[in-house]
Amino acid sequence: MTIRAAFRRFSAIPLRRLGDKRWYSSAADGFDATSSSSKAQPPSEAIDGFSVFPQELPSNAQDPSKDDFINDATSPPRTREQQMEYNKHESLRDWLGRQSRKRSVDEIVVLTGNIHRGSEILHNAVYNKGTGFNHSERERLGVRGLVPPRFFSIEQQAEKIWQQQVVMRESNAPKIARWRHLQALKDRNETLFYRLLQEHVEELAPVIYTPTVGEACLNYSRFFRRARGMFFTKDDVGHMHSMTYNWRGDVKIVVVTDGSRVLGLGDLGAHGMGISVGKLDLYVAGGGFDPQEVLPVCLDVGTNNKSLLNDKWYFGLNSQRLEGGDYYRVIDEFMRAIRHRWPNALIQFEDFQTKHALEILTNYRNDYLCFNDDIQGTAAVVLAGVYGALKVLGGKDRSEIRKQKFVMCGAGSAGMGIVAMLHKAVVKSGGLSEEEAYDNFYIMDNNGLITNERKLEFPREAAVEPFAKARKATKELPDGASLLDVVTKSKCTALLGASTVNGLFTEDVLRQMGEQNERPIIFPLSNPTSNAECTSEEAAKATDGRAVFSSGSPFEDAKGAVSGRLMRANQGNNLYIFPGLGLGALLSGAKTISEEMLVSSAKAISDMLTEDQIRRGCIFPLIKEIRNISARVAVRVIKQAAEEGQAKRSVVAIIESDDEHDTKLYKYVKRAQYVPEYRPTVFPVEESRRTVDDY
Ligand code: NAI
Repeated sequence: MTIRAAFRRFSAIPLRRLGDKRWYSSAADGFDATSSSSKAQPPSEAIDGFSVFPQELPSNAQDPSKDDFINDATSPPRTREQQMEYNKHESLRDWLGRQSRKRSVDEIVVLTGNIHRGSEILHNAVYNKGTGFNHSERERLGVRGLVPPRFFSIEQQAEKIWQQQVVMRESNAPKIARWRHLQALKDRNETLFYRLLQEHVEELAPVIYTPTVGEACLNYSRFFRRARGMFFTKDDVGHMHSMTYNWRGDVKIVVVTDGSRVLGLGDLGAHGMGISVGKLDLYVAGGGFDPQEVLPVCLDVGTNNKSLLNDKWYFGLNSQRLEGGDYYRVIDEFMRAIRHRWPNALIQFEDFQTKHALEILTNYRNDYLCFNDDIQGTAAVVLAGVYGALKVLGGKDRSEIRKQKFVMCGAGSAGMGIVAMLHKAVVKSGGLSEEEAYDNFYIMDNNGLITNERKLEFPREAAVEPFAKARKATKELPDGASLLDVVTKSKCTALLGASTVNGLFTEDVLRQMGEQNERPIIFPLSNPTSNAECTSEEAAKATDGRAVFSSGSPFEDAKGAVSGRLMRANQGNNLYIFPGLGLGALLSGAKTISEEMLVSSAKAISDMLTEDQIRRGCIFPLIKEIRNISARVAVRVIKQAAEEGQAKRSVVAIIESDDEHDTKLYKYVKRAQYVPEYRPTVFPVEESRRTVDDY
């Protein structure tokens, strides 16, 4: 966060006062906004440059290639001992001096005297630390006596909340109860919420996001407690631009949905906000985005969901969905408004129904920094899974993808996005021609196998057309052939599902996959769990644990009934891709997200697999490593952006610097990641006579 952003966040005082002596004075002595200091100076550019997402690296200490600037081993007081030490009112300069990583003054949160005091700060989830305020802060922020006397560090607080989550898990509390418990924490103390989420991302991601968030979205009006994000409705046309100024602060990433197809649960209208909020929580925990720089958005263009329209507590517009030109006018005004207000922000489309998703992506992908996670993120994670599966199958390299025959069940946005990317990979990595590569794919929808005889609807099914054309209907496999027939007669090696049809991969189908392949690839990707084409247990049973399995929703590892062989469940979680992709795109300064960036992300994921993981049948690295995974993905994306001439000068300079540039880029990314820890909120007393320049 830049000093400007910090200031905007903490005070309504206009920016031009950044150079005002009084501001530094108030920063120094904490509360007196009117006194002056003779040593006060305006901030230098270098200080302002200490941004989470520096646009250009300043010329001095900002150079990420200088190791003393980036040192992951250091951080503000983290352990209890460090925190206690800091509590002794040691000099801020001493504390900063002990950090081998250089810290900027703007990393020290400064609260001015006329705002955020006493109970006000305790009720502000951004600043609240609960029992984590040290003595100095309690005294000077006016919270002394308002919180229990004993100090607890963020580690201790996180441990306590985690124990509550464990009790809920062990007493089989519904996941939605755990979701509500975490939301309540977020409403009280955001830093602690993200700390907990980051530390336990593997277990909490399914609580915060799919599948639990689906249940939350079904009842979002009833669960509504505190406003988060922004709603833009069809009634806001003509006002969206000015509305964006109702949102205070800088925004680096926007996740936007129109709630028309939430996690395969259908049209949930304005309840789609839950999905944007949950997704951004994962961007923060998994990618290291600053929670103050993310914006969840729901475009309320009406809903066709009768039960919502009849629900007297539904908080969205009580009208049918907009269609055609009216719908696209809303989208267009929204996109322009965001770009005008935050020109460098990344916009991620989420859970738009297929008929709009592809068109929206096509309309904006070449002019805006944007991507659709359902189409592109899913495709990239499935490609990463296929590359991982090739390793488990003992393939010598990625070119082995040419030997795979894929059956894709589902010709919607997710299914066709996956198929398009796999097709590209068969061409690029496998070395087949485009025409030859079509032969590796069998596409199915609710009417069975799609062949050249199918009457397709345009533009909805434009993505299907080249695959349909290339699949000639035969007597053996006519248009509309059943899944079992297609699996058997195609001798396919990989069965993928994005159909939303629970149980579509029947025992017969799975058994057939097991019979014709030593290690069949089986990916039931539909969400939530209740829509999955099969469970891990069913796949393990039918193939005696030989399947290389990956699902969209989380499942447990399962064993083959005869051999007892353990089959890994390998959740093909988009979380592997989107935070790192977003981070890399922003840090590189790219203006668009290219297909090659997605492919690079997929390669980065499979390259992270260790020999041991491959031997054990894992096709993805451990999700608990997500911060580092995202950083590695971001590095690849930055390099790809540079290759495409999209990267900013300072990043290109690192890449061109020497052979160690991967390490330097990695450090650069790590340095940019937000770390959920309490930052000092006041300068200790002896610091009051220091100014920014002293640091
Ligand atoms: P969609 O509703 O647009 O498409 C569903 C497709 O499945 C349609 O083409 C439909 O004709 C087809 N279908 C229906 N019944 C079928 C059957 N019996 N056999 C074969 N095909 C059948 O949905 P969309 O957006 O493409 O999403 C599909 C699923 O993928 C959803 O459950 C969604 O949650 C999931 N998904 C998973 C992700 C992941 O794993 N990371 C990410 C994004 C979506």
